[in-house]
Amino acid sequence: MIPETLVDLCKKRMQPYACEGFVYGRGPMCPAIMIVGEAPGETEIHNGMPFSGHAGKVLDQFFHYVGVEREDIYFTSTVRSRPYKIVQKKSRDDELIEKKYNRAPTLKEQFAHAPILDYELEHVKPKQLVTLGNIGLQRLLGRNYTISEVHGRLIHSKVRKLKDLDSNEWTWSEHTYSIFPTYHPASIFYNRSLEKDIYKDLDHLKKILKHSEKRLGHN
Ligand code: URA
Repeated sequence: MIPETLVDLCKKRMQPYACEGFVYGRGPMCPAIMIVGEAPGETEIHNGMPFSGHAGKVLDQFFHYVGVEREDIYFTSTVRSRPYKIVQKKSRDDELIEKKYNRAPTLKEQFAHAPILDYELEHVKPKQLVTLGNIGLQRLLGRNYTISEVHGRLIHSKVRKLKDLDSNEWTWSEHTYSIFPTYHPASIFYNRSLEKDIYKDLDHLKKILKHSEKRLGHN
């Protein structure tokens, strides 16, 4: 769906940074929901499928709870490569080994892949955006928004897009989107108590989706 020339361009823009692999967004056109995550992790890079690792399994439970099938969701994220850091560790037999760990994408990395998400937003035409965590939220709405303050609220807004390919500057989309921020599913691995907040958010999301179905005359 995304032109290969755009993908090649973004891969080139990402070259200076410690990122590996490339995972395409996946899902139908005009989906009920478009998920905007952070970045793929090791599992996703390995098998080329967004949200197929640990966090993806938790995300599947969320949408099962909301009553939306994976087939009705378009999955993408702020950057499409895995940002990593290398950490030196001692192995059991006292040898120094290097391990790759996931990390959040930097702002420069977000700019490098911005044209992909911009393109997806324009062409996929999601009915409802759901951002996961601070990275997806701030990519679209800027740094004045924090997930702990706005999770579970419905926001209608234009979203940030890259001003032009030669600058690292944002401008605003023409279109106004319906955006629902919630925590990233991986957040509960570090803070179990967030799960309660997430399920409250999901209760609200369920109501929002029902209401918009009614408005559109579906059952
Ligand atoms: N987190 C994301 O944001 N995207 C993935 O594909 C996996 C985890």
